[in-house]
Parts: sequence; C-alpha cells; structure tokens
Amino acid sequence: MSYARIIGTGSALPDRVLTNADLERMVDTNDEWIRTRTGIERRHIVSENETTADLAETAARRALDAAGVRPEELDLIIVGTTTPDYIFPNLGTLVQDRIGANGCAAVSCEAACAGFLYALGIAEKFIRVGESERVLVIGAETLSRFTDYTDRSTCVLFGDGAGAVVLAPDEKHGILRTQLYADGKYRDLLYFPSGVSRGFNDLKSGKDFVKMQGNEVFRVAVREFIRAAKNIFAATGMSPDELDWFVPHQANLRIIEAVAKRVGIPMDKVVVTIQEHGNTSAASVPLALDVAVRDGRIKPGQTLLFEAFGGGFTWGSALLRY
Ligand code: UT7
Repeated sequence: MSYARIIGTGSALPDRVLTNADLERMVDTNDEWIRTRTGIERRHIVSENETTADLAETAARRALDAAGVRPEELDLIIVGTTTPDYIFPNLGTLVQDRIGANGCAAVSCEAACAGFLYALGIAEKFIRVGESERVLVIGAETLSRFTDYTDRSTCVLFGDGAGAVVLAPDEKHGILRTQLYADGKYRDLLYFPSGVSRGFNDLKSGKDFVKMQGNEVFRVAVREFIRAAKNIFAATGMSPDELDWFVPHQANLRIIEAVAKRVGIPMDKVVVTIQEHGNTSAASVPLALDVAVRDGRIKPGQTLLFEAFGGGFTWGSALLRY
C-alpha cells in the first residue's frame, strides 16, 4: 500500500485586518490582555461580499499550482468547515465547480476546529487503499460571520482564512498515521446554538453567535493534545526527538506552549502563526503549514506532527514525512 503524501500546499487570507487596537475601540479589552492571554496580535476578516468558498477556492488553486496538478486530475475533494456558504450544496462541490474539477467526488466535513484533521484522515485512506490518486483537502472558515463583536471573551480570538493540500500516492514518504477522537459530552462548552432542525435562537435578527466556556475548553484541550501526541508517537514507534516540526491548531499560544513542553518539543520546532491569524478553526493547521512551507522552514522528507482540537469536542493528530 502507498502512503498519501502532501505534494502541494496553498492558503488564502482576506485582505481586511482587525488588530488588537481595533478591538480596543469595539469592546472592553486591551492589546496587553489579548497578547499575553492568547498570543494574538491581529486576525484577517472577510468583507461583506466575501465567503468561505472564495477563500477555499484561492487556497485550492494555490495548492494545485504548487503540486503541479490540474483540477481535472482530482478524484476527491474534502473540505473541513463549520462556516460553509450553504447547508447544501456542500462546500466541496462549490469549490469543485469553481476550479473546474467537475465530476470528482466532493464533500465537506463538519468537525469544528478539527475539520481539516478529520478531512485529512478520511482522504488519506482513499489513497492508501488505491481508490484515489489525487485528492484536494481544504480547511476553510469565515468565523467572523458567527462571532459576537460585543462579547470580549470570544471576539478577540477568531479570524477567517483557508488552507489546502494536495495528496498523491508515494511509495516512500507520506502520512504515517492519523488518529481521530471525539467526546460529545463536552458539547456545551463550545458550540453554535443554531441549526436547520433546531431553528435560530434569535428569530428577530436571524443571527446567532458562537458560545464558549474558554477556561474549561483550555483545560481539556491541553490534556487531550498531550495525550493524542503521546498516542501517535507510540502507535508509530517514533519519538518527539525525531520530529522536525509541530504544526498545531492555533487557538491559544499558552495551549501550544504547554503541550510542546509536556510532549518534549522545543518551541523552535513549533510553527506559530496565531499572532497573525488568530484562531481560524479548520483552516488553522493547513494555513500554518503553508506559511512554513513557503518561507522554507518545512522541507521535503522532514517529519511533521499536526494536531487540532475543537467543538464537540473533536480532535485528532497526524504524523507524516513531508
Ligand atoms: O479552537 C477551539 C478550541 N478553543 C480553545 O482552545 C480556546 C481555549 N480557551 C482559551 O484560549 C482561553 O480560555 C481564553 C483566551 C478564551 C480566555 O483566557 P483565560 O485566561 O481562560 O481567561 P478567563 O476566561 O478565565 O477570564 C479571565 C479574566 C476574566 O475577568 P475576571 O473575572 O478575572 O475579572 C474575564 O472577564 O479575563 C477577562 N477577560 C478579558 N479581559 C480583557 C475575558 N476576555 C477578555 C478580554 N479582554 N478580551
């Protein structure tokens, strides 16, 4: 069986930037609190007419260019997102039609901030069993659409963006292992209260906002990130010393530092983009990956660990040779 190897990466960010100073003018917060409690300095926010599909399309085109793959060669597209343009048609089909990959399988995967890891875990299996040859995996979000910009406990955290990878079979290198987890008993700690079946809470405006008990989420996230990292090293017979880069979900710099320390990964081997992007949910890992690939830090043959954690809770990890 072949490995599924990442042969190209891409990303996209909206032009509009929301700085900590901007937020100081909107809610009772300050740059010092945001930087020291989260590590975030700025985040990108879509304009009124921009949607998740726009960001996903741009990231996809860049990943295809980097991979040297034509859209018509794709046989599967999976997009991790919790902020799709529509309930259906799914975001995968929107991207498929825009890039001209019509006819291949296309779907989106809803696992909050772990959406990209879940999509990657699924896509990888299609390649391993020989069912797919060229797969596009995307994480794309416009979290600003369900962020309450009067709630200082959440609005300072989130940003918009997209990241994408193209996978292809490879005999030598690729994804060594993915491990996915979920525990639905934590559903009330981080959630978006509206849905087609339950309806919208605020019927007047038709708007609803993300809800989070931040410090509770923080505690479980650190614990499960550490456990997931230890599990995947044990499952592959590898050790943290063999790692070149840790590319974690960018939710909070303090979470990243605590996990790196406990797992035994020095911070100079951790890709940190939270200061520029904030928490972009399913987009955060592929966005950080693309940044570090394009600036030359991540090189072919290196060993990488991805981890993400989000609402549900859902979380997961992937260990790979890039
Ligand atoms: O991506 C999915 C997973 N998500 C996460 O992993 C997020 C995990 N949670 C976190 O990152 C952190 O819990 C937060 C950044 C959300 C909050 O940081 P914290 O250190 O846990 O703060 P806290 O919620 O315990 O609040 C501490 C204080 C409170 O004031 P009092 O009660 O001590 O007077 C808050 O009201 O900080 C206050 N506070 C703020 N102050 C200034 C909360 N938000 C702000 C703010 N500016 N934006």
